[in-house]
Amino acid sequence: MIKRFTFLLVAVATMAVLLAVIAPAADHANQQPAAPFVTQIPHGYRNWMWISSAHEAGNLNSLGAVLGNDVAFKAYREGKLPFPEGTIIAALHYRNVPSDENNKVFGQVQSFVPGVPTNIQFMVKDSKKYAATSGWGFATFTPDGKPASVASMKSCFPCHEKAKATDLVFTRYAP
Ligand code: HEC
Repeated sequence: MIKRFTFLLVAVATMAVLLAVIAPAADHANQQPAAPFVTQIPHGYRNWMWISSAHEAGNLNSLGAVLGNDVAFKAYREGKLPFPEGTIIAALHYRNVPSDENNKVFGQVQSFVPGVPTNIQFMVKDSKKYAATSGWGFATFTPDGKPASVASMKSCFPCHEKAKATDLVFTRYAP
C-alpha cells in the first residue's frame, strides 16, 4: 500500500516537472514574441516644433497637435522619406471644447480650443529595436505620463501600416 502511494507521488511529481518544462516551451512556440513598445516618454517633447494639427470628430471629439523632434522636423521640411533613424513624432491630444470666453466675444459658438488632455502618442524610429513593426516604436501615454495598456498599443502598427507609402506616417507638414 505504502509502495503504491510512493509510486503515485513520484508519478505526480514527474508529471508536474514535465508540465513545468513543456508548457512554457509550447506557449513560446505558439506565440510570436511581443513587439516592443516605447516605454518612456521622450524627453523634452513639449518643446518640439509643430508639424500640423488634426481634429477627430465623433466620440473622440479631440483636438490634436503633432510635433516633431529636430530629426523629424528636418526630414519633414526636406520631404525626406523614409524618416531617418532618431525621428520622433508626438501627437498631443485634447478634448475639443467650445471656448465660452471667446464665444461671448463672437456672440455665437464658433471658437473651439484644447480642453483637458486625453493622451500623448509617440512614434519613434529605431529600425533595430522596432524591426517587428517596420522600424517604428509606438506608444500611448495617459496625461499623467503612464503607458497605456499593451492591448491598446497592439492596434497602432496594423492601422499605421496603411500609410506605407509615407513610411507609416499620416500627418503631412502644414506650411
Ligand atoms: C484606426 C487607425 C489608427 C490606429 C489604430 C492608430 N492610429 Fe495613429 N493615426 C491615425 C491617423 C489616420 C492619423 C492622422 C490623423 C490624426 O492625427 O487624427 C494618426 C496619427 C498619429 C500620429 C501622428 C503621426 C502620424 O502618423 O500622422 C501618431 C504619433 C500616432 N498616430 C500614434 C499612434 C499610436 C501610438 C497608436 C496606438 C496606440 C495609434 N496611433 C493608433 C490612425 C490610427
